[in-house]
Amino acid sequence: MDRVDRTQIRPCRAEDVPLLDRWLPAPGAPTRHADRFARQEAGTGTYLLAWRDGVPAGHGQVRWDGCAAPEVRTEVGDCPEFNGLDVRPELRGQGVGTALIRAAEELARERGAAFLGLGVGHDNPRAAALYERLGYTPVVAYTDRWSWTDPRGVGHDEADACTFLVRRLTAPEG
Ligand SMILES: CC(C)(COP(=O)(O)OP(=O)(O)OC[C@H]1O[C@@H](n2cnc3c(N)ncnc32)[C@H](O)[C@@H]1OP(=O)(O)O)[C@@H](O)C(=O)NCCC(=O)NCCS
Repeated sequence: MDRVDRTQIRPCRAEDVPLLDRWLPAPGAPTRHADRFARQEAGTGTYLLAWRDGVPAGHGQVRWDGCAAPEVRTEVGDCPEFNGLDVRPELRGQGVGTALIRAAEELARERGAAFLGLGVGHDNPRAAALYERLGYTPVVAYTDRWSWTDPRGVGHDEADACTFLVRRLTAPEG
């Protein structure tokens, strides 16, 4: 059995949230995993988790309501977006990220989506190279706006220069 086969992918369950907090902590965003699980419960997201040896190895969420950035919505509307992709540092480069992306595509196809999109920061060329290798094509540059809270409780607003990429999941009609 190769290393990719040892990765299991499934949607988050309530009891997984404390394990995510422990294995993939989000400093400055202590409720990140709980927030994504809540979005899944509300029906606007699916929080996919990758597992290795019984513990979380990585995660990413499909946002069924699409990317919030207006520049992206102008180009692709509410095309589902796969975001929040992260793999534990010691497990990177072993196919976990690819397995999460392929699982997200499968889910999107099952729901009848023709495309899946994802965003990548201009400061992250390795991730961009992975996405392009997996069939994603750059569509539009946009600014990803997000907030976080430092350990003193002070809020910070960030704005990252990103590119949105899209992959077609179904054969074009006609
Ligand atoms: C990007 C990331 C999710 C890919 O997951 P992965 O399991 O490492 O990816 P895979 O093993 O399926 O594919 C390997 C490819 O991922 C990319 N990659 C590997 N390590 C990476 C890292 N530390 N940062 C960014 N991309 C990386 C490379 O393109 C790599 O191919 P290469 O080894 O030929 O250069 C993962 O590396 C990660 O969590 N990086 C830090 C967080 C991040 O950049 N998230 C994406 C935000 S858009």
